[in-house]
Amino acid sequence: MTQIIDGKKISGEIKDEIREQVEALAKEGKEVCLAVIQVGNNPASTVYVRNKKHACAYVGIKSLALELPEETTQEELLDKIRELNEDPKVNGILVQLPLPAHMDEDAVIAAISPWKDVDGFHPVSVGALSIGQEGFISCTPFGIIQLLKRSGIEMDGKHCVIMGRSNIVGKPMAQLMLRENATVTIVHSHTPNIRELTRQADILVAAIGKTKFVTEEYVKEGAVVIDVGINRDENGKLCGDVDFEQVAEKTSAITPVPGGVGPMTIAMLMYNCLEAYRRQNS
Ligand code: GUN
Repeated sequence: MTQIIDGKKISGEIKDEIREQVEALAKEGKEVCLAVIQVGNNPASTVYVRNKKHACAYVGIKSLALELPEETTQEELLDKIRELNEDPKVNGILVQLPLPAHMDEDAVIAAISPWKDVDGFHPVSVGALSIGQEGFISCTPFGIIQLLKRSGIEMDGKHCVIMGRSNIVGKPMAQLMLRENATVTIVHSHTPNIRELTRQADILVAAIGKTKFVTEEYVKEGAVVIDVGINRDENGKLCGDVDFEQVAEKTSAITPVPGGVGPMTIAMLMYNCLEAYRRQNS
């Protein structure tokens, strides 16, 4: 029987731990605050931003929502970010992506103070991760590390194969697994014979955004499979990058979609906000 890794339960435990710590700060009259900026009204972004605000409310972090119109200029957005960088009451700054086409995402991310970069997307945060220094860690891969650790799955000495090389998931995932002493392989769209590599994985992370791409022939018997995908199947049903029904019986542990990696991302965002408060006030 495979172990179904329950991301909803584990993320709930993490949020409860954070809530306790935020409550303790509140008793001393201290407040943690996250500023969330959304430009325009991309419907998916609106849902993500709403979920982030709900999580803040749950753990007791103040959320400052800035909803800017689609026509906002890059300079106006950068001015807003600079203002938040300077505001000592704001601990974390998150600019919801994607931004409208007339904006330069890299320039916007680079404008956020690395001290307040709770998404972990700033080049300083990315660099710190790669050389083992303190910085903020991208929430989805950070959440996956927590899922594995809290499920008793050891990474030390294991072969971890990551499918996908995005800046938000694949690349930081590789760095984090290296830090846990795993041997790491990244496969992507230009990798020949992907299956030969994924079949060697003790831990397989699928982050490619392709509905049910990972079938049983990609997976070694007894492997741990982590599914980062959030896709819709032909009936509009939410599903991952992994064909769960087919793959689950071969695995020793697997994350479902929904209820696996998804809820962890926001829990780790809350963690990073509290951590930002601590670093700014120590
Ligand atoms: N868009 C999709 N995922 C994310 C995320 O984790 N952070 C931000 N800022 N935007 C996103």
